[in-house]
Amino acid sequence: MSTCCYKDSSKPVEKRIKDLIGRMTVEEKLGQLNQIYRGSDNPLPAEFAIQVRNGEIGSFIWGYAQPELRNQMQRVAVEESRLGIPLIFGMDIIHGARTIFPIAPAMAGAFEPELLERAQAVAAKEARAQGLEWVFAPMCDLARDARWGRVAETCGEDPYLSALCNAAQVRGFQGDDPGSGEHLAACLKHYVGYSSPRGGRDYSDTEITEWTLRNAHLPSFHAAINAGALTVMSSFNAIGGIPAVSNRHTLTEILREEWKFKGFVVSDWNAVIEAVSWGYAKDHAEAARLAICAGNDMDMLSTSYYRTLAKQIEDGTVPMAVVDEAVRRVLRVKFQVGLFDRPYVDAAAYESAILRPEYLALARESVVKSTVLLKNEGVLPLSRKIRKIALIGPFGDDQTEMLGCWQGNGEPKDVVTLASGLKDKFGSKISLAVVKGCSVSTEPRMKMLQDGSTVIDDSVPMDNAEIMLKEAESAAKNADVVIMAVGEPKGITGEGGSRATLTLTGRQQELFDAVARCGRPVVTIVFSGRTLTLTEVFDKSAAVLFAWQPGIQAGNGLADLISGDAAPSARLSMSVPYEVGQVPLYYNHYVTGRRSGGVYRDGVPTAARFWFGYGLTYTKFEYSDIKIVSGKKGKPAEAVAAISNKGRRKGVETVQLYIRQLACNEGARPMQELRGFKRVALKPGESAEVRFPLTSEVLGYVDRKGKTRVDKGDFHVWIAHHARSGEPLVYSHK
Ligand code: NOJ
Repeated sequence: MSTCCYKDSSKPVEKRIKDLIGRMTVEEKLGQLNQIYRGSDNPLPAEFAIQVRNGEIGSFIWGYAQPELRNQMQRVAVEESRLGIPLIFGMDIIHGARTIFPIAPAMAGAFEPELLERAQAVAAKEARAQGLEWVFAPMCDLARDARWGRVAETCGEDPYLSALCNAAQVRGFQGDDPGSGEHLAACLKHYVGYSSPRGGRDYSDTEITEWTLRNAHLPSFHAAINAGALTVMSSFNAIGGIPAVSNRHTLTEILREEWKFKGFVVSDWNAVIEAVSWGYAKDHAEAARLAICAGNDMDMLSTSYYRTLAKQIEDGTVPMAVVDEAVRRVLRVKFQVGLFDRPYVDAAAYESAILRPEYLALARESVVKSTVLLKNEGVLPLSRKIRKIALIGPFGDDQTEMLGCWQGNGEPKDVVTLASGLKDKFGSKISLAVVKGCSVSTEPRMKMLQDGSTVIDDSVPMDNAEIMLKEAESAAKNADVVIMAVGEPKGITGEGGSRATLTLTGRQQELFDAVARCGRPVVTIVFSGRTLTLTEVFDKSAAVLFAWQPGIQAGNGLADLISGDAAPSARLSMSVPYEVGQVPLYYNHYVTGRRSGGVYRDGVPTAARFWFGYGLTYTKFEYSDIKIVSGKKGKPAEAVAAISNKGRRKGVETVQLYIRQLACNEGARPMQELRGFKRVALKPGESAEVRFPLTSEVLGYVDRKGKTRVDKGDFHVWIAHHARSGEPLVYSHK
């Protein structure tokens, strides 16, 4: 064996890996597959250093920005362990590290994947500065059921938009070189099928056919793999009785054999041994064997690989080659992110690497581009004649709520609330009354005990609900216009945040009704991690802006829109139901043989209140001359339309292309599928022609063997404002 080839950076990486694996003991190999949670102890528990020195740990989930402590731990790995293999530090950096951006479904609604790319490039720089080489994002799941709290981490309900947005996030995180020190490894999650839980209950099992898996759930992962994603996280759910962590079909046949993925798969938190809870494996040892043999390389938290695999290798139940391959994949990523050559981070540079002015500007731009205008009876942008605004509602001046379901290292003190944004925007020109009106939850004094149960915390004084309501009413009566800031608290969104209702929480509806009765025009800003059923709010407000969870520049971005310094251009990445009983509700469902008449028997429409793709702006666009132009000289036919700005302000229209294959013998195709979009910026009176070539990518689907196919035959083609607008043209594909 050559002398320490793996330490020689002039040698090719695959040679270095081969050399290193040749030197490793079984325990050292299993150590590389063992990921441990850093916890919250400070100083770190002494046993961490011992385990790292022994080569028992390959990676930490590191929940804090502590570059010095992280370096200390890395020093033990690199300088005190036998082979000096560096640790890889990963963390959930989902919509920002310290500069917190709007959540993913909001960003996807910009219909500008580059925006996500730029935001995640910022997140990567800030995350690198704190000593991370790996983030557990992006989330490639679909938002098909608003009860499921994790829709707040998705790029919405549509596979095509989600694919583009997730590929863009991978590019943002990883750049051209994930080892450059400004970029890092992305992790696609949750692979796969996690987003169709029964009843919207997080972690529950799913039943997804191969057809739906291939055409709805997998495209986003596939696109992100093609964008170069270095790692994938297997999910908590079981599909058809097989836990995702032990699913050889998805982890090996599809991911490795079909898609040629070369990186590694990490399980979700403890998921390896949850195969025992599912009733799939009899004990931890069997769970570990099934997971590693299925293609799950790293074990997050359960330690079952480290505890049980050595014996199973020895008795021949787990082939050494399987373990070697998993180790090879993990080491390859460690090389790719540059850990072998630059294991430490410059801790002194951290403070100057975060919250830079250009990052804040991008966060503000993101709020502007991701807030959806759902209704406007002419009250927005606010008239210059307005002198008195009442900002009412629990989200108007709450810094913590703006951070959203994951907050990385974001801090409430970094947040510009709507109250501060409006003050800053209007200064002394307008008098602004800020009134909370009520709490976000029914019982704001709940506290959680260690066993997970909740009790009322009597040390917190009770809100005087009646007094708060009266204050709100008197502020409303005294104002020219009311801005209501309502929604759902971030604590009931994200992981475990399933809901059985989709309404405003606590006494917010009562507050809204009382304020609306005061007779002033109401502009409602909704803060939420999911779409909500807000019939009264939609009906009684003069304008509604859906702001999602907007991040630290919430107030500035929203004030830009409210004042008219910027115009809304975002669209819904998730359809909005009328009632919770409609969900799962998404635009790209199948067409049934029977008509329901469009209403449930209790009078609720079967359609969405607002469909995917919907969103208004401050001007009006008109679509005309929509046609199919046949392709010349072997070029594909094109769908073409003219878009004109008929209003008095400039604006951006997101023109959308939808298709439907009318007869597909492989399996029915959905009623509509988004297959293209273009953002068109037009001044008043201007027009532009938009062209969409009807290529194989636009018309095709994935068959049950994973092959992309395009059939000859008839298609409906729409060029439209949103999923249910416009009339289709018929295109015959020859
Ligand atoms: C569980 C979550 O499902 C996953 O999204 C996250 O990345 C891991 N925990 C690590 O925190």
